[in-house]
Amino acid sequence: MAFAYEPLHLLLLLAFSTHLPPISTTSTSTTPLASTPTTLTTKPQRLVSKLIHPGSVHHPHYNPNETTRDRMELHIQHSAARLAYIQARIEGSLGSNGYKSNISPSLNGRTILANLSIGQPPIPQLLIVDTGSDILWVMCTPCSNCDHHPGVLFDPSKSSTYYPLCNRLCSSKGCKCDLSDQSTYNITYADNSFSSGTFGHDMLVFDTIDEGTTQVSNVMFGCGHNMRYNSDPWYNGILGLNNGLESLASQIGQKFSYCIGNLADKNYNYNQLILGEGADLEGYFTHFEVHKDFYYINMEGISIGEKRLDIDPSMFEIKENGTGGVIIDSGCTMTYLVNDVHELLDKEVRNLLGGSFRQVQVENTPWLLCYYGTISRDLLGFPVITFHFAGEADLTMDSTSFFHQSEDNVFCMAVGPSSASGTGGEVSLLGLLAQQSYNVGYDLVNQFIYFQRIDCQLLID
Ligand SMILES: *[C@@H]1O[C@H](CO)[C@@H](O)[C@H](O)[C@H]1NC(C)=O
Ligand SMILES: *[C@@H]1O[C@H](CO)[C@@H](O)[C@H](O)[C@H]1NC(C)=O
Ligand SMILES: *[C@@H]1O[C@H](CO)[C@@H](O)[C@H](O)[C@H]1NC(C)=O
Ligand SMILES: *[C@@H]1O[C@H](CO)[C@@H](O)[C@H](O)[C@H]1NC(C)=O
Repeated sequence: MAFAYEPLHLLLLLAFSTHLPPISTTSTSTTPLASTPTTLTTKPQRLVSKLIHPGSVHHPHYNPNETTRDRMELHIQHSAARLAYIQARIEGSLGSNGYKSNISPSLNGRTILANLSIGQPPIPQLLIVDTGSDILWVMCTPCSNCDHHPGVLFDPSKSSTYYPLCNRLCSSKGCKCDLSDQSTYNITYADNSFSSGTFGHDMLVFDTIDEGTTQVSNVMFGCGHNMRYNSDPWYNGILGLNNGLESLASQIGQKFSYCIGNLADKNYNYNQLILGEGADLEGYFTHFEVHKDFYYINMEGISIGEKRLDIDPSMFEIKENGTGGVIIDSGCTMTYLVNDVHELLDKEVRNLLGGSFRQVQVENTPWLLCYYGTISRDLLGFPVITFHFAGEADLTMDSTSFFHQSEDNVFCMAVGPSSASGTGGEVSLLGLLAQQSYNVGYDLVNQFIYFQRIDCQLLID
């Protein structure tokens, strides 16, 4: 199977080998050293960013009037758009430009945001966490069309640690030097919105648990000076976490992990992202491969309770023409399985619930399996659903990860068929609801993804 490489990766590889100073990390803390255990002072501080989930009271577009039903509809709409985009990109119908989109910025508030600061003095940034793209970019002044963003725009001329990336090797499309020899970028998204600007370097600043800060110097990122989007942005930029050389994950230690606790609780505040050496790589792991900037893992089967469904593992494989396969994604809430697999799972769930619950049909989503009832009250005894991966790694889902409360008295299965996107539907996608109660660790050097079932609060204390 052949996947075309994206030209920018190669160009930036050259940029890295010739122009970049080494990354260094330093930390400062407001806590006196005397009160800190000595073992901690010898280690670099963890680079931790809180993750703010859609629907959280901390989200810039938190809407107290949003009903359970509104929330579900937005999740489904956003997830289907993300799935359609991923399928289009895999099948190459978005053209040869490798940057033809990841998350469409016009979609409203359904993705998880990281909070970290940039520059000296540090300016907080709310960034879409995207495992399906590479570049970190933030909106910068001066900016055309950067209205209605959260917080204050980053002004590189006011940061004492900022310097531009000048790169005479960048001369083809997607990355070129302008007259002042700055390296420019222009990322166009599926809905024709775009972010364009110049590459530069600055310091990233993370909060630490003891109310101090930890810094990473000389991080390369895109400073966006010209935007086009179709609705108000509720973010400052995008944090790409794929494995390309220009991604932040590659720049900082080649490791990262995120922990997603509870996406339904608007007050839950323990979701977090850890970058670099301090990332949590624990539990069983499975090998990943990257194609078209997405993380693919080898799924092998599904169990409900002790019962393993009769699924031919080849249904999860990537086909000769690049379709199929199973992607783990940070930009999608729902999970989608290829139609034949979804059908088997759906049938099994109907067998378990059909006798006790009354089914409901939700408008516009005939594929969504829904019943009258409340997850927390009615599904306590529902068996655990397990997705099995190569290498003994499992993702287990209790009823709160496998179902979604879609109205106060209606719950639905949070797993749909890949055809739900309205396209051919040949790829499977593991979304964030399925990843709840897990710490997911990415080791980019050895190409492993770790799954550890854990209470995210334990990683903070
Ligand atoms: C929520 O509803 C109240 C009362 O109808 C209204 O005043 C307020 O603007 C609404 N808030 C949002 C964010 O829509
Ligand atoms: C992001 O972090 C900054 C710095 O710690 C903090 O002041 C700000 O309130 C945070 N923003 C949100 C939305 O949590
Ligand atoms: C970036 O690309 C879009 C088209 O995809 C174009 O409309 C826009 O003018 C470009 N911006 C710059 C600064 O080149
Ligand atoms: C890819 O190949 C599979 C069979 O291996 C086929 O069913 C599918 O239609 C093909 N898809 C495309 C987009 O060519």
